[in-house]
Amino acid sequence: MTSPVVDTVNLVKIYQNGAVPVPAVRGVDLRVAAGEFVAIMGPSGSGKSTLVHMLGGLEARTSGEIWLDGQRADTLNESAWALLRRKKVGFVFQFFNLVANMTVADNVELPALLAGASAREARQRRQYLLGELGLTDRADAAPSQLAGGEQQRVALARALANKPSLLLADEPTGNLDSRNTRDVLRLLGEVHRDGQTVILVTHDARVAGLADRVVALFDGEIVDDGTIGMARRRPKATVGDVVELRG
Ligand SMILES: Nc1ncnc2c1ncn2[C@@H]1O[C@H](COP(=O)(O)OP(=O)(O)O)[C@@H](O)[C@H]1O
Ligand SMILES: [Mg+2]
Repeated sequence: MTSPVVDTVNLVKIYQNGAVPVPAVRGVDLRVAAGEFVAIMGPSGSGKSTLVHMLGGLEARTSGEIWLDGQRADTLNESAWALLRRKKVGFVFQFFNLVANMTVADNVELPALLAGASAREARQRRQYLLGELGLTDRADAAPSQLAGGEQQRVALARALANKPSLLLADEPTGNLDSRNTRDVLRLLGEVHRDGQTVILVTHDARVAGLADRVVALFDGEIVDDGTIGMARRRPKATVGDVVELRG
């Protein structure tokens, strides 16, 4: 049997707010198999961002274990995490951090180049991703010239540039209108069909509707973990239509 892509064991994060401990994640056991698409939902403050940040090594855990592809990850130092992320994790933050003095095209190509793609491969991948997200004519713009929703889509394109085996996304449609949300959903559906594993935080039922599984967090704990049955999965092939009908 292959290892799960993500496996957490009693994962805990307690922030220190001065002298006051703020428990954000309280004993999460989350196992995600290769190719699964998991939506994480829950009210504001329930620990969603903290959880996915820990999975991407952006936030250190207080206790517990994180395993990625069978490799113990929570004990890695920062540079080892950075290497692991570059090889297999794409991350879309809630607050997208594009490189300000690089064009959109360069921002999207960079991760692929860092991961060892040729200039030609990186360019083709960038052209494909920007095309899918309706950003082709923004390729030469600087991030500061983009609207918030455009920046957010560029951040998604960048996260997908090196075909990460694991995509972590924190509210990737948070600032988008319905047309752009649809483009993002279509791309995520493709990523999923290509066999990439997706874990995304969302408030949007349409986004969660794409997932195989919805994990609900409340006060830092998993309170529901439902796998969506095959009957609901079938319409994924025509995600655009489904979203159209629901939206
Ligand atoms: N850097 C931080 N320092 C202190 N407390 C934090 C920090 N980040 C988040 N928290 C607290 O941790 C809890 C979970 O936050 P978060 O993971 O951002 O939740 P969500 O993404 O579900 O809205 C909240 O109570 C929040 O105030
Ligand atoms: Mg959050």
